[in-house]
Amino acid sequence: MAAERPIPLSSFVVRPATMEDASSLFHAWQRLRNHNAGIDRRFIPAPVSQDEFVLDLAELLRRPQSAAFVAELDRGLGGFISGRVEQNQPDRLPSAHLTVGYLWVEPRFRRRGIARALFDAVAAWGRGHDGVAHFEMAVLNADHAAAAFWRSIGFAPFIERLWAPLSAPEADA
Ligand SMILES: CC(C)(COP(=O)(O)OP(=O)(O)OC[C@H]1O[C@@H](n2cnc3c(N)ncnc32)[C@H](O)[C@@H]1OP(=O)(O)O)[C@@H](O)C(=O)NCCC(=O)NCCS
Repeated sequence: MAAERPIPLSSFVVRPATMEDASSLFHAWQRLRNHNAGIDRRFIPAPVSQDEFVLDLAELLRRPQSAAFVAELDRGLGGFISGRVEQNQPDRLPSAHLTVGYLWVEPRFRRRGIARALFDAVAAWGRGHDGVAHFEMAVLNADHAAAAFWRSIGFAPFIERLWAPLSAPEADA
């Protein structure tokens, strides 16, 4: 089978997501969650129906503190990103930062600058929020491709999220 021809950089456009994207976004979001679950089995996606997703998307698009963008290709959606303003813990300044909730690029469209363009859209949106001057976000430690992407656009490790099972108490002797 012939290899898929690389798409030139000019063949996608990044635009704000709309409710008309809901169905495509739901399926892409499921692929992202399955990707995460495949990277680390401690990541367990909660069941979310398409109807529930659509309600959450409407809320996300309605709130001034959150936004979502899609990369549109003539063959459909190539990826998406969601971002929001998140409050810090009350004892730490500055009081808020930007965070990326979800970022996904379809495997066949990767390494063509789509994630970078999606991130740029969130960053441009974030500059419109007073008092917000940096990003903080969580990334799966085992996702080396994701880590390489974030490093390539200037992210560096800051706070590490640790994990341990709650073990049963020792049985009395
Ligand atoms: C991570 C992800 C979003 C990157 O999307 P992408 O559109 O391929 O990224 P870009 O083309 O914008 O890459 C920009 C730069 O990031 C780095 N990068 C991206 N993917 C990489 C990889 N797999 N390995 C090494 N470096 C990578 C490179 O420096 C790249 O520049 P280059 O192609 O000129 O070398 C995509 O692989 C993806 O959707 N992965 C699964 C979901 C995920 O990990 N989401 C982020 C969770 S926090």
